[in-house]
Amino acid sequence: MEYLPVCLRLRGAPVLLVGGGTVATRKARLLLRAGARLTVVAPEASAELQELLQDAGGEWRADAYAGPADLADQSLVVAATPDAATNRAVSEHAHVAGIPVNVVDSPELCSFIFPAVIDRDPLLIAVSSSGRSPVLARLVRRKIEALIPAAYGGLAEFAGRWRDRVRDALPEEGARRLFWEQAVEGSIGELVLAGRETDAAGRMEQRLADSTDLHRGEVYLLGAGPGDPDLLTFKAVRLLQSADVVLYDRLVAPAIVDMARRDAERIYVGKARAAHAVPQQDINQLLLSLAQAGKRVVRLKGGDPFIFGRGGEEIALLASHGIPFQVVPGITAASGAACYAGIPLTHRDHAQSVRFVAGYLKGDRVEHDWSQFTSETETLVFYMGLVGLPVICRELQAAGRPADTPVALIERGTMEGQRVLTGTLATMDDIVAREKPRAPTLIIVGSVVTLHKDLAWFGARED
Ligand SMILES: C[S@@+](CC[C@H](N)C(=O)[O-])C[C@H]1O[C@@H](n2cnc3c(N)ncnc32)[C@H](O)[C@@H]1O
Repeated sequence: MEYLPVCLRLRGAPVLLVGGGTVATRKARLLLRAGARLTVVAPEASAELQELLQDAGGEWRADAYAGPADLADQSLVVAATPDAATNRAVSEHAHVAGIPVNVVDSPELCSFIFPAVIDRDPLLIAVSSSGRSPVLARLVRRKIEALIPAAYGGLAEFAGRWRDRVRDALPEEGARRLFWEQAVEGSIGELVLAGRETDAAGRMEQRLADSTDLHRGEVYLLGAGPGDPDLLTFKAVRLLQSADVVLYDRLVAPAIVDMARRDAERIYVGKARAAHAVPQQDINQLLLSLAQAGKRVVRLKGGDPFIFGRGGEEIALLASHGIPFQVVPGITAASGAACYAGIPLTHRDHAQSVRFVAGYLKGDRVEHDWSQFTSETETLVFYMGLVGLPVICRELQAAGRPADTPVALIERGTMEGQRVLTGTLATMDDIVAREKPRAPTLIIVGSVVTLHKDLAWFGARED
């Protein structure tokens, strides 16, 4: 490590800035934000810099840098002039005087450098490339910024307000750390991030009053989306990375399971059609017992947990035992696969409603009142319908949908190798028999399917 990252307290501290141009103005803004008592030495200063100094009560001395005398009593120096000789002189004098110095764009003259900062005051995240590539550091900052919601600042404030109370209630360091980990990463942190500070405070009181509460686990039921890992929500990623145990389904992409902490336990409970790896009741029970053992459990489900996902059943048992849980929506297969296939499910020229329908066979039947599916301005999306496709096409025609109603079958929607087969209620059966698509597949019925040929953008187009 070439530099030690530290956070300097500059409130009220005298700081000298040599230079008055654009770069110096940028540095001045940062130093003033940290509360520095700023003196600028430069023959000329930008209008913005003058205004900043005026607002913050800083001083501008309209002069050239005069030498070591200018450094007297300063706690920090920044040189940002266009003149290399001046910058070098400032650096040398500061080194002699033992004052930390930064020279813009000259890491070799610096005793400290400015990192790129993600400011979620009071939470600060600094990114540095040790002076090698400020552009790369800024790029990394942008990526982190997207992952850290602005509300994290509020969470840090909240924790700060409770710090003394928690220290008094839990003098033992280990217990206190566990308490904070659970509070910040668990439901209390989530309540604060959701803007529900009063509820979060109530939860803190409760946890401090009842130490057994400290060891209670939680369950997060997360929608993992239809396949493409980039379709996961920020919240799902955050909770996934906080889990001790992850239970996942067959349809969850391995890249998503890999986002869990390295030391998190991973339990496969996936189901293929008619071949349940772990029976549903056992999954429900497992979630309960893991949470009762104090674990933070993530239950990852393909798509959205509440759409043909049995998510409701899994949390019902937790609710009846008073285990805290959260449910995070995911992009359901209908939405994800249709978007990636270029089929707008409710394009206004074609459909005014869309219906998600279970398409699995019970015996040799797909059990529905088929007379409810006759509207030509409604798009139908069948989940789990591959095996029952011949029955679906037959029943829809028998109910009155025209034989030439367009049908699309999307195989592996949003994933590498996505394939879209299109036909009609009359022809789809043969097309599927010929092409032999493999699960998971989604079936879309309605005239919106005709838009696919112009709007397809992802993966291979059908010829
Ligand atoms: C048990 S349901 C779960 C649905 C999931 N909860 C959701 O919201 O997407 C499984 C069915 O979803 C559909 N499905 C899930 N992922 C899919 C994908 N990537 N491409 C096509 N269909 C998919 C298939 O019809 C599959 O049989």
